[in-house]
Amino acid sequence: MNNLHTKTALITGGSKGIGYGVAESLLKEGMNVAITSRTQEAADQAVAQLSGIGSGKVIGIVADVRDFQAQQRAVVKTLESFGGIDVLVANAGLGHFAPIQELTPEQWHETMDTNLTGVFYSLKASLEALTASKGYFISIASLAGTNFFAAGSAYNASKFGLVGFTQAVMLDLREAGVKCSTIMPGSVATHFNNHQPNPSDAWKIQPEDIGELVVDLLKMNPRTLPSKIEVRPSQVPAKGA
Ligand SMILES: NC(=O)c1ccc[n+]([C@@H]2O[C@H](COP(=O)([O-])OP(=O)(O)OC[C@H]3O[C@@H](n4cnc5c(N)ncnc54)[C@H](OP(=O)(O)O)[C@@H]3O)[C@@H](O)[C@H]2O)c1
Repeated sequence: MNNLHTKTALITGGSKGIGYGVAESLLKEGMNVAITSRTQEAADQAVAQLSGIGSGKVIGIVADVRDFQAQQRAVVKTLESFGGIDVLVANAGLGHFAPIQELTPEQWHETMDTNLTGVFYSLKASLEALTASKGYFISIASLAGTNFFAAGSAYNASKFGLVGFTQAVMLDLREAGVKCSTIMPGSVATHFNNHQPNPSDAWKIQPEDIGELVVDLLKMNPRTLPSKIEVRPSQVPAKGA
């Protein structure tokens, strides 16, 4: 996919954070981009900010990844607007962090339904279009998909699962010419877990860095597939800083 100009990406959870950063980078390459959000207000706000970047178009779609029919509608809307889907970035996600003694069934289900089942729904709904375009499926997992930590049982389970899911579908789909990669970031300066990005986040990966990584993957020689990419801040703040 050396020339990204006029290609189309569907990004789940593109209203802020990593999804927004990826949308920005793909628009700069001249791609058309559809982003999703749970609310019309957030989708509209992001589209207003992203409009005018690059020569492609951006649309916002209200679609909760936990709802399979909503994902199917998002795919139809993207196809109606742009005629195809070349790239699916399954990014929407959240985290509940609590020791198992305190973790509630509701928190468990919200985490798994969003971070794992939501990715399955997004890919399943896009599969025909991605197969037709010989496209690219990229999931945003986490270093929490390989490193476990206290109070991380739900998040770890969802991201370990997502890494396994993406690697397995990579084997299912590569013969059909669809590439699959999972990006596993460390700390990124986003709104994740109700964080407010601020100047002290300068050491973290920035959302646009993940956007550039996605562009690099899409432009990689088609014979080569980095299927699992760990990415971390090159430096961490000194303890106590
Ligand atoms: N930040 C980090 O350090 C970090 C590190 C590794 C991996 N990640 C992963 O990166 C992904 C993006 O997170 P982020 O850091 O960018 O967080 P963020 O700033 O909170 O953004 C989360 C995005 O996901 C969307 N979203 C959440 N639940 C959704 C649902 N049910 N349906 C549709 N969209 C939904 C949000 O949209 P609305 O709120 O508008 O609905 C928002 O656009 C997640 O999968 C996260 O696990 C983050």
